[in-house]
Amino acid sequence: MKVIIVENYDEASVEASKIMLAAIKANPSIHLGLATGTTPVGLYKEMVKDFKENGTSYKDVKSFNLDEYSGLPKTHDQSYYYFMIENLFKHLDINLDNVHIQESQGNIEENCKKYNELLETEGVDLQLLGIGSNGHIGFNEPGTSFDAVTREIALHDSTVADNARLFFDGDLDAVPKKALTQGIKNIMNAKEIVLLASGTNKAKAVKGMIEGEITTDLPASVLQNHPNVTVILDKEAASLLK
Ligand code: PGA
Repeated sequence: MKVIIVENYDEASVEASKIMLAAIKANPSIHLGLATGTTPVGLYKEMVKDFKENGTSYKDVKSFNLDEYSGLPKTHDQSYYYFMIENLFKHLDINLDNVHIQESQGNIEENCKKYNELLETEGVDLQLLGIGSNGHIGFNEPGTSFDAVTREIALHDSTVADNARLFFDGDLDAVPKKALTQGIKNIMNAKEIVLLASGTNKAKAVKGMIEGEITTDLPASVLQNHPNVTVILDKEAASLLK
């Protein structure tokens, strides 16, 4: 695991954008694994800025998102599809036919099966990750088997609370309690992984991920087994590291 520690969130976003943009320039038909949440917003702003200033093209890029809330239509302003459109895709020249996210309505089991087949056939070159304060990656909560693939899961109370604080206008009842997520096995299949973390509320999970034992109690610790992971941290997220 390569660990990069920078001063603050903005610097972490710039650092991540350097890796992302270099990879896209090296392979214009790259398959990106993308993430939602507060963490990647700064990175996505950097990518949009680069597109406006330098015109790096996404027309042949394919994207595969990590997760989506159960039952929310893509048009819902708290759905992750909507988040991706608003924060990234609508500002780029990406072809929306190349944008993939779990379909969270209808036959969930069938949709998850199709998503796993899609990931299997297409493969992800560069996967972006955040980390939950409880150490989750995607929505793979503590206790998840490392063999898990895309499926519907129940969100832990701490994740629902984290999400209510940041989204859904703080309304705990409005946060969906289930989501569809790529499994740890899908994530580990990516050729390269970049994990971004910022803030003191991530420090404990970050320490466990990097210095702790590899355990399903802290899903992100599985990344120690991956051959090509870069972790980008701000000082606060890195504050408990030795
Ligand atoms: P956050 O979520 O970026 O909103 O902190 C990260 C995650 O839960 O993976």
